[in-house]
Amino acid sequence: MHPLLNIAIRAARNAGNVILRSLPHIEHWNIEEKGKNDYVTEVDRLAEQEIINTIKKAYPDHAILAEESGEQGDSDTVWIIDPLDGTANFLHGFPQYAVSIAVMVRGKIEHGVVYDPRRDELFSASRGQGAKLNDHRIRVTSRRQLDGALVATGFPFRFPAIQDAYFKSFHAVFDKVSDIRRPGSASLDLAYVAAGRVDAYWELALSSWDVAAGMLLVEEAGGIVSDCEGNDSSLETGNILVGNVHLHKELQATIEPYLAGVTK
Ligand code: IPD
Ligand code: CA
Ligand code: CA
Repeated sequence: MHPLLNIAIRAARNAGNVILRSLPHIEHWNIEEKGKNDYVTEVDRLAEQEIINTIKKAYPDHAILAEESGEQGDSDTVWIIDPLDGTANFLHGFPQYAVSIAVMVRGKIEHGVVYDPRRDELFSASRGQGAKLNDHRIRVTSRRQLDGALVATGFPFRFPAIQDAYFKSFHAVFDKVSDIRRPGSASLDLAYVAAGRVDAYWELALSSWDVAAGMLLVEEAGGIVSDCEGNDSSLETGNILVGNVHLHKELQATIEPYLAGVTK
């Protein structure tokens, strides 16, 4: 295993332990509203600090881009961190959240880990090496049409200006597929496409830490990743569309008429 992936996994597991240890103390948490519908708890911050400490011990010179503490350092290697992806779920005791850590080297994501501590499921990938769930290789599904597909999505609840366009795309997809899920953790949504648990996924207006690790998981599991227009801007725009080559194409054709040019 690549040493960078090894540290990413150690950091994700350490953060997972922080999250699990905090669960019995729910009533003591300090909850803050960062923005509209955007909450952060002490647990997010503690988990993030644990990740950064683990990285810094091994790689003191690497740069960090972390959701709660922002950017630090200047290096070719940047660790992109979401310490708790699915905070709203976590706050409500809805067991769907994860730690997401990606390693970007000279602008390219080279390693990614998404860790679900509740289920002890560790999704990991290094570029060119395939994707894994724990010790097993994973692949996207081989379904050829949206007809019969189970598709995941996320709602742009923090961005009222793009909700109309989004819900038009939702209707268009809903008309074609067997059903749609909104689990509430973008990194796990991507990991689930990689693992073949859902056939495809789209969401708008995410942040780089939501998608960086999961994008690599999907690519290494044989899937296609793009924005809603088929371009490679998901890390910057936060608009993301993934699936196997057939479903990616059909999903893009379905949503693009409503979402072309839509940005947060
Ligand atoms: C959120 C989750 C959610 C997505 C949101 C994200 P957070 O991350 O990934 O599924 O719909 O837009 O911001 O805030 O819980 O880390
Ligand atoms: Ca997130
Ligand atoms: Ca988060």
